[in-house]
Amino acid sequence: MKAEDILALKNEAEQELKTAKNAEELEKARIKYLGRKGLLPEIMKGLKTLPPEERPDAGKYSNEFKSACEALFTSRLAELGTDNGAEQKDSFDPTLPGQWQTSGSVHPITAIIAEAVTIFSSLGFTIADGPDIETEYYNFDALNTPDDHPSRDTQDTFWLDDKMLLRTQTSPVQIRVMEKQKPPVRIIAPGRCYRRDTTDATHSANFQQIEGLYVDKNVSMADLKSDISYFARRMMGPNVKVRFRPHFFPFTEPSVEYDFSCHLCRGKGCRICKQSGWIEISGAGMVNPKVFQKVGYDPETTAGYAFGMGVERIAMIKFGIPDIRMLYDNDIRFLRQLAL
Ligand code: PHE
Repeated sequence: MKAEDILALKNEAEQELKTAKNAEELEKARIKYLGRKGLLPEIMKGLKTLPPEERPDAGKYSNEFKSACEALFTSRLAELGTDNGAEQKDSFDPTLPGQWQTSGSVHPITAIIAEAVTIFSSLGFTIADGPDIETEYYNFDALNTPDDHPSRDTQDTFWLDDKMLLRTQTSPVQIRVMEKQKPPVRIIAPGRCYRRDTTDATHSANFQQIEGLYVDKNVSMADLKSDISYFARRMMGPNVKVRFRPHFFPFTEPSVEYDFSCHLCRGKGCRICKQSGWIEISGAGMVNPKVFQKVGYDPETTAGYAFGMGVERIAMIKFGIPDIRMLYDNDIRFLRQLAL
């Protein structure tokens, strides 16, 4: 065979070795070209019949053919392993145990918010929200907060400039909703709040509240107490007690703070409730008529209640978490224990 024919055949052989889909096809190509009765030995044998001037080139190409194809065969064999196509179908054993993927779970804060949304939805509340970056007007002025109120202080509030701030409460959402909507209004507004608190076991500069607002004609303190008590029983269990204490907020009048009996010690006193048997959840009250005036509602014919709720506090008593920071550390060993 002439030198150029040898080269052409070499290319063909390489092509076949490269495109073999499995070990069986690869072996067939090897036998065809390199096998004892294959094409290459035949070429080798025929070399001596060539005219003497053609022999050196033809010999050289034949040798290259052999070494290149042998190397290619070895590397392709390593790639394909013993896979021979036919066997592959049978080698899948569906009875072998699979590889387990551990699934994630929602964060305890997310879980509490989701549960609160479910409970209040069943009472006819819808969800509202507002921005984390608020104006002084929505966070303080519209909520009837006096200019000299200490919460406006730069030591308590993260001011961004002299009018913008990170909201210190979810109460500004009340104003945003009432500005857009006529009564009746029945909303809850879960969201992040920010205060310049020094972080400790019960304080975090960043925390979550759920705001509630119910405005209609004949809403009374009795509605507030019964709705919060209903929520407490569904969230904490039927035996939880709720306590309302007189308090002051500029945007509600009268105002209360409310506590749930400690879920862990059932009111006997423990580490979590600091031996008092009660855990403070947040504030509430009847919407101050001055707030209604700001949003253009008639204070004579309109009545409503508002409440705030500390989400971390509820999570801490529900799951028995002694330190608020554990909710923000993202320690997977801790979060896994709470997988719901
Ligand atoms: N916004 C108040 C707080 O953060 C709680 C509150 C909400 C009080 C609604 C009364 C009415 O402390």
